[in-house]
Amino acid sequence: MRSIKTALLGATLIAGVGATASAASADEVNIICSADNSLCEKLAATFEEKTGTDVSMIRLSAGEAYAKIRAEARNPQTDVWWGGTGDPHLQAANDDLSAFYKSPMLEELLPWAVAQAETSGFRTVGVYSGALGWGYNKEILAEKGIEGPKCWSDLLNPALKGEISVADPNSSGTAYTALATLVQLMGEDEAFEYLLSMGKNVSQYTKSGSAPVKAAARGEAGLGIVFMHDAVKQAEAGFPIEVVAPCEGTGYEIGSMSLIDGAPNPDTARVFYDWVLTPEAQNLMAETGSYQIPSNKASTQPEAAPKLENVRLIDYDFAQYGSSERRRNLLARWDMEVGAAAN
Ligand code: F6P
Repeated sequence: MRSIKTALLGATLIAGVGATASAASADEVNIICSADNSLCEKLAATFEEKTGTDVSMIRLSAGEAYAKIRAEARNPQTDVWWGGTGDPHLQAANDDLSAFYKSPMLEELLPWAVAQAETSGFRTVGVYSGALGWGYNKEILAEKGIEGPKCWSDLLNPALKGEISVADPNSSGTAYTALATLVQLMGEDEAFEYLLSMGKNVSQYTKSGSAPVKAAARGEAGLGIVFMHDAVKQAEAGFPIEVVAPCEGTGYEIGSMSLIDGAPNPDTARVFYDWVLTPEAQNLMAETGSYQIPSNKASTQPEAAPKLENVRLIDYDFAQYGSSERRRNLLARWDMEVGAAAN
């Protein structure tokens, strides 16, 4: 009964996707959301309201989400993993933790979102995109007489000692993107030397990727290495944050979504999956101050979103840095060299 109801509900939603609210379902879906909490809550509440589905959602950073899904592999508790950087989603696909699904929505998506699906053998899909950079607190740096850093090399300035905040790449997809970006820009050995030197300026390795710029906004740090859209959010909220795209070039994310293999509610999960790829759902991002670039061609590009055409983007190798072996090895080396030096 449940699956017929859900299938009908799915048909309604896909026909005009999401245009018709239906209270027909009392189904449930368990979601891990790896984007900003306000957006996670907005998506859950809107989907509940439209469909009557009981949504149980938790927010976890992308590395933590991967670890949870992996730990539950024999008895999955999660139906959909929405958002978070693409590398751990690709790793989940690589490890057969996520399920094959070719959504009818694929044809509405931008090429980079479809490329992410193809790279994973259709076990994940791109939901948004954004470039890595940082946000610094103009007042703090001005008080200390430090010129605003424009390049990765500027972050080694000893005057920044104790002023930089960045997340731990084990828990945070943002910080893993930073690690993989530096490796692609400099080569692995040089990137680790760089991270060790920069580590002398780091006050704290946080769990969540956006926490560093929130700390900079509150004046608890001078600079947070984050996705540029997370820095824009603080600047738009009125904090004295300057948003920077590093001069040497930078990496970017294809924020992704995966269905979990063997999940308890696969039919409802697909209904959510198809709905959340619609412009109607993706336009909720800007409403909650999430300024990533949405993946549906017809979604509104938020006015405040960093213009990626003005950012010097590297040709980020998602297949390589999202492979299980590469991600595992880089994280192990980070623990041994950078993490160990921080303790
Ligand atoms: O805050 C939003 C965001 O930057 C997303 O664009 C990104 O996918 C996610 O957070 C990564 O979060 P974390 O670094 O905590 O895994």
